[in-house]
Amino acid sequence: MAEQWQDVLDHAVAVAQKAGKVVREALQSDRKVSTKSSSIDLVTQTDQKVEQLIIQSVKETFPAHRFIGEESVAAGEPCDLTDEPTWIIDPIDGTTNFFPLAFLLIMGVVYSCLEDKMFVARRGKGAFCNGKQLRVSDQKDIHCSIVATEFGSNRDGGAVEKIFSSLRKVVCLPVHGVRGAGSAAINLCLVASGCVEAYYEIGVHVWDVAAGALMVTEAGGVLMDVEGGALDMMSRRILAANNRHIAEQIVGQIQAFTPQRDDAP
Ligand code: IPD
Repeated sequence: MAEQWQDVLDHAVAVAQKAGKVVREALQSDRKVSTKSSSIDLVTQTDQKVEQLIIQSVKETFPAHRFIGEESVAAGEPCDLTDEPTWIIDPIDGTTNFFPLAFLLIMGVVYSCLEDKMFVARRGKGAFCNGKQLRVSDQKDIHCSIVATEFGSNRDGGAVEKIFSSLRKVVCLPVHGVRGAGSAAINLCLVASGCVEAYYEIGVHVWDVAAGALMVTEAGGVLMDVEGGALDMMSRRILAANNRHIAEQIVGQIQAFTPQRDDAP
């Protein structure tokens, strides 16, 4: 990536720190929560405030840049990924703790504000946490592997059945353990950091995974669709792993389904 993008990355990190401060302060006070697609899919006033803060700040510095933001899309804005420089923003992933964003899929920033961990990835330049380079686990044995996943916010009976059935099969491979950080972005950072070998989920959105996905590939890991094909960022399905061998064994256990795409008209 040309050095010309350094100012954009610096801006992303600075605005993530600013947003993290707002999130930390909000956690000290009462949270006003409303719902999005279902009673499980929550949005707080802080999500909306933080997304606006990011968009405003970027617009002032980079007026030509475009945005795909979780809260803006929920409010009816389009979810179109074009060739224009685009910031993909999830103001708070996992309801309370985290803040990921990606820019043009060539850089990603995930700020775990309560832990004060700033994850940064640049295509071709590696992934880092607070300046320390990340590397995926070198584990090759699925039986010694830890797999992260989430139940998501879909409460449709058929989908929930498939989520549980897949999880049962993954557990019984057997794997060493199953975890879930409560945030797709952080689960991907855990893969990139070598803390877990893999993460999969059906139902995520592009803003949940764009930044973390780059973190994984820049740390030496692989990304694919849950049925084993190429990852499609708008498909709402993702499998990330430390290597292809581990990924393919998980693929064999997943009962896939197809949520409505993020870029569906
Ligand atoms: C959610 C979180 C959660 C995952 C959901 C996401 P949100 O994001 O990442 O871990 O299971 O699929 O939608 O709604 O808290 O930004």
